[in-house]
Amino acid sequence: MKVQINKSSKINSVDFNNLNFGEICTDHMFVCDFTNGDWNEPKILPYESLKLDPSSSVFHYGQAVFEGMKAYKDDKGQTWLFRPEDNYNRLISSSIRLSIPEFPKKYFFEGLKKLLQIDSNWIKPGKGNSLYVRPFVFANTAGLSASPSKSYKFMIICSPAQSYYSGETNVKIAENYSRAAMGGVGFAKAAGNYAAQFYPTSLALQEGYQQIIWTDSYSHKYIEESGTMNIFVEINNTLITTPISDTILDGITRKSVIELCAYLKKNVEIRRLSIDELIKSSSEGTLKEMFGCGTAVVINPIKSFSYKNKKYVLPLLNNSFSSLLKEKITSIQHNISEDIFNWRYRVDS
Ligand SMILES: Cc1ncc(COP(=O)(O)O)c(C=O)c1O
Repeated sequence: MKVQINKSSKINSVDFNNLNFGEICTDHMFVCDFTNGDWNEPKILPYESLKLDPSSSVFHYGQAVFEGMKAYKDDKGQTWLFRPEDNYNRLISSSIRLSIPEFPKKYFFEGLKKLLQIDSNWIKPGKGNSLYVRPFVFANTAGLSASPSKSYKFMIICSPAQSYYSGETNVKIAENYSRAAMGGVGFAKAAGNYAAQFYPTSLALQEGYQQIIWTDSYSHKYIEESGTMNIFVEINNTLITTPISDTILDGITRKSVIELCAYLKKNVEIRRLSIDELIKSSSEGTLKEMFGCGTAVVINPIKSFSYKNKKYVLPLLNNSFSSLLKEKITSIQHNISEDIFNWRYRVDS
């Protein structure tokens, strides 16, 4: 792999105690081009702007997918990733659905590890600190033909992150909008899925909510995901989460919560949950907790949900199950507790 080191690092100008998510990228980027039917030799280059033809198909037809993962450093300075094979596998299923050639696994892991070694100083130790890692691939053939591109660019960029208190999360259950439809691309991390959420989410924000609970596109009667997170609801001491389907992203945090619950002997049901059942459980006092989960915040407790202008408030808990889950997962991520599930992936320095 060709490596070109950045001679003017910007790390000393970064205030690591005051980071806004995704605003600053590290000094290097991993780049690999697909041309003439094959992936070329990958490179690590100083982070810089790209030059693209304005007719590149990504700008017009949105042929692009991405991933999101985090690297952590323990107190001994060792870097770890969390279940990166799952990110790679999801990148491949997203790519297949978007007609993007599969990026080789060998290149993915070599590039990822090398980039984390070179930009290692950007990963700060301590719980709460991490380096957000963003692999992505997009179509860059010049030309306006609405057909799969002939050339692509795969890249990995990284951005230092801190865990932040996400504040009270009051969510609105979608009555008309949907994030995804059966037969569509909701299960894939397709760039366009996120653009399509911005407008309904901005309307919800204006109304004072922090997120939307997406409902199924066919009936709007069943809950699907919360914002860009998978959702869990605790009713009668059982956690319920929506099954993976065309419309649900197969979240790695969701998978980890389910596996952790089996270990903790907490009952989990993987089934559809209707808005009627959710409201009934709230009225009957059997609804205990609701939370979203994903790489960015791990676990995001929901304080209230609103449906058809009526607000339902969740009980205030001192020792919530969601906070226990967060503690267990983050301790594994930061190499504080034993890795009983074999989730950690060591990145040699
Ligand atoms: C739509 C959506 N759902 C769920 C998730 C959570 O997935 P993960 O736990 O792998 O981050 C994400 C974030 O990646 C997402 O974008």
